[in-house]
Amino acid sequence: MTEKIARQVVLAARPHGRPQPSDFRLEETAIPTPSAGQVLLKVRYLSLDPYMRGRMDDRKSYAKPLQLGEVMTGETVAQVLTSHHPAYAEGDIVLAPTGWRTHALSEGTTLRKLDPAVAPVTTGLGVLGMPGYTAYCGLNLIGKPEPGETVVVAAASGPVGSLVGQLATIAGARAVGIAGGSEKCAFVTDALRFDAAVDHRAADFPAQLAAACPDGIDVYFENVGGAIWRAVLPLLNKFARVPVCGLIAQYNGPGKGDGIDQLPATMHEILSKSLTLRGFIYYEFAKQHYTDFLREVGAGIADGRIRYREDIVDGLEKAPEAFIGMLDGRNFGKLIIRVDA
Ligand SMILES: NC(=O)c1ccc[n+]([C@@H]2O[C@H](COP(=O)([O-])OP(=O)(O)OC[C@H]3O[C@@H](n4cnc5c(N)ncnc54)[C@H](OP(=O)(O)O)[C@@H]3O)[C@@H](O)[C@H]2O)c1
Repeated sequence: MTEKIARQVVLAARPHGRPQPSDFRLEETAIPTPSAGQVLLKVRYLSLDPYMRGRMDDRKSYAKPLQLGEVMTGETVAQVLTSHHPAYAEGDIVLAPTGWRTHALSEGTTLRKLDPAVAPVTTGLGVLGMPGYTAYCGLNLIGKPEPGETVVVAAASGPVGSLVGQLATIAGARAVGIAGGSEKCAFVTDALRFDAAVDHRAADFPAQLAAACPDGIDVYFENVGGAIWRAVLPLLNKFARVPVCGLIAQYNGPGKGDGIDQLPATMHEILSKSLTLRGFIYYEFAKQHYTDFLREVGAGIADGRIRYREDIVDGLEKAPEAFIGMLDGRNFGKLIIRVDA
């Protein structure tokens, strides 16, 4: 039976700290009709990513905040249902920034075709998508690991961290992952083949991290901030590089100026150890790197050198709960909602 109703999740209220289910609202709408030059898309998979938390606040950042009542931002894998666009045919699978919804119209300019024969289409949201590209650029263009150096990354079982550690190993460096709990740590060493993994929930986490990095840390890929940064800072070697990718420990907090990241101590270490810290957003790098990324990481997946894990949850209505869980560390791998497979 052909569906008549589309569904979407909108921002219902701005969160105070940790988001609540009541900050989201599931709505039903009519399925839109494409005009000349447009395609109608049916969403199959929705990517849930930490950056979405920032969009929910009315705060100046690198991207505009969502307005109340607006559909939650998000990248999806979608199928072309109807096409009035010369470049797209019915049945094509595309990456599309539709947001948290079942159906969307597109003029075609922001779509990228995916070939299901090359890799499972969900990888376009994870290891071969935005998170993978973030790991690739941050590590290779800012971290620049040398053979024998020690590279540390937190959220190590997630899509960014898991690729950072594997690329570090391929570059001949020693990869140390930080993850929450013994199951994630075992995955990081056994499946992803990092050299060591440390549980940040352990009471003696700073001592365990120091023991796992006997030669100090040359590259710290910053995904988290907070208590993990405090443990890493004294272990950084002279001339260490810190690609500052994300600060997920702070996303539900009061924002800038909460004092948890030890600014005076950080500044002292930057000066005395000639550290390089550089923040970045994945789309700031030259287009050529994107082609290299797809080729190199695609080849690594094909020949088994690079592995990935996806955490797929069924149903658009489950997206708010799954998203809140991700900010608490309850996802295990790239978090994806199966909207309609
Ligand atoms: N700069 C950019 O362009 C860019 C692009 C993409 C992503 N990012 C950033 O990269 C980071 C990782 O993203 P991802 O997509 O790979 O997501 P992810 O690993 O799936 O992120 C969620 C994980 O973060 C960890 N976490 C959450 N709160 C934490 C806390 N308080 N302390 C320690 N760990 C905590 C949890 O893992 P554990 O259970 O293992 O602790 C959780 O499973 C995020 O900070 C994200 O914002 C930046």
